[in-house]
Amino acid sequence: MTTTDLSGTVSAAASRRLPAPQEAAQFQLGEVTLVAGEGIRAWDSEGREYLDCVSGTFNLLLGHNHPEVMAAVREQTERLVFASSSFQTEPTNRVMQELAAISPPNLTRVNLRSSSGSTANEGAIKMAQLHTGRRDVIVPFRAHLGQSIATASLNGTTKMRAPFPYRYPGGLHVPGPYCFRCFYRQTPDTCGMLCVERIEDFIRYASSGSVACVVIEPISGAGGNIVPPAGYLPELRRFCDEHEIVLVFDEIQTGLGRTGRMFAADHFGVQPHMMTLAKGLTGSGLPMAAILTEERMADWDRGLHGFTYGSHTLAAAAALATLEIVQRPGFLENVRASGDTLLGRLRDLQTDHPVIGDVRGVGLMLGVELVEPDGGAAVGRAGAYQRALQDRGVLTRVSEHGAGSTIELRPPLVLTPAEAHLIADRFAEALDAVE
Ligand SMILES: Cc1ncc(COP(=O)(O)O)c(C=O)c1O
Repeated sequence: MTTTDLSGTVSAAASRRLPAPQEAAQFQLGEVTLVAGEGIRAWDSEGREYLDCVSGTFNLLLGHNHPEVMAAVREQTERLVFASSSFQTEPTNRVMQELAAISPPNLTRVNLRSSSGSTANEGAIKMAQLHTGRRDVIVPFRAHLGQSIATASLNGTTKMRAPFPYRYPGGLHVPGPYCFRCFYRQTPDTCGMLCVERIEDFIRYASSGSVACVVIEPISGAGGNIVPPAGYLPELRRFCDEHEIVLVFDEIQTGLGRTGRMFAADHFGVQPHMMTLAKGLTGSGLPMAAILTEERMADWDRGLHGFTYGSHTLAAAAALATLEIVQRPGFLENVRASGDTLLGRLRDLQTDHPVIGDVRGVGLMLGVELVEPDGGAAVGRAGAYQRALQDRGVLTRVSEHGAGSTIELRPPLVLTPAEAHLIADRFAEALDAVE
């Protein structure tokens, strides 16, 4: 029974009955309820253990409940949980200083005023538009920029754009450096980076003629763990300079050690004009994002892109601890060693399992692309493998938001080579079970 309160609004308080979680949730809930986590492991309410090979949502860079990060957060909780970004705080100041110090040398300025990857990418686009006085945004096919209305409109997959009738205009989608299924049917040693060269035609014939920036993940995450050939990003940078287009690297998944180097940009020797970070920045799942820019973009009205939870003091304490840990001697070496072990073991599985078409990745950013017997992308089959892995206690994801053919593995960076073997053993079991 409902009652009417004095202000005339209808309240259900008198008949309060707790609905079941799925009745209350406006979206489809997952089947598993997680109750605890430590390092690369998480446990559900039934006591089952999982090896979390997706690091939460690719954001638990240091795994679940890293003790040093948790201690830094606890300590900060005692002093100051939150201050508006119109004030300085010691942790936020130090995060900006650290990021400016470790990022590519041309990126000297840090904006911490948003807390998600979507809003960081959107901020970078706004800055590029303001700086260049131009409009369009070039994005590779399959890219994921976020879920705000602007970034959702720019995402490089039709599935993610189609549901929304009014979209942010000006997205120019171009084939990315996906050599395993090259759009131009070339190979990297002979293509001459056609996928950069042809952007010229896209600009001339498919854009508004006014292009502000390119937003690209140096290694595409949700798109299928696509590692570009060595020459692609340097060529893209050259192209952007020639056309006075701002090159934005979305390092939201790849940044801060995920690939075995501080930034994926470092593998390719390329300095972008801007970089966005989020996900792993706090190591532990607290929300914080950063937009890094060149000095020429420092003249920015702070009121144009800021959110209530931006520059969050508590998240900054976690970020600071995380940045200190990932810079320790040997930390990135371990990422490379564990990554190489897992990559090697997964590649070995290819021999006996023709469903594996390609195993690719750098550091602990790995993908296993499944193929049909005729070599086509095994779209629709990857879900069965993902479920078989979960049944064996290994959490993974499928590319293109569950609709692609690549199983994505991004375990926390504290993974040891021994744990990498354990994951590979279970991967082999899952393959056998499905086949
Ligand atoms: C590469 C990349 N960019 C941007 C985003 C959006 O980040 P957020 O979900 O924090 O808005 C994601 C999220 O998955 C991502 O993987």
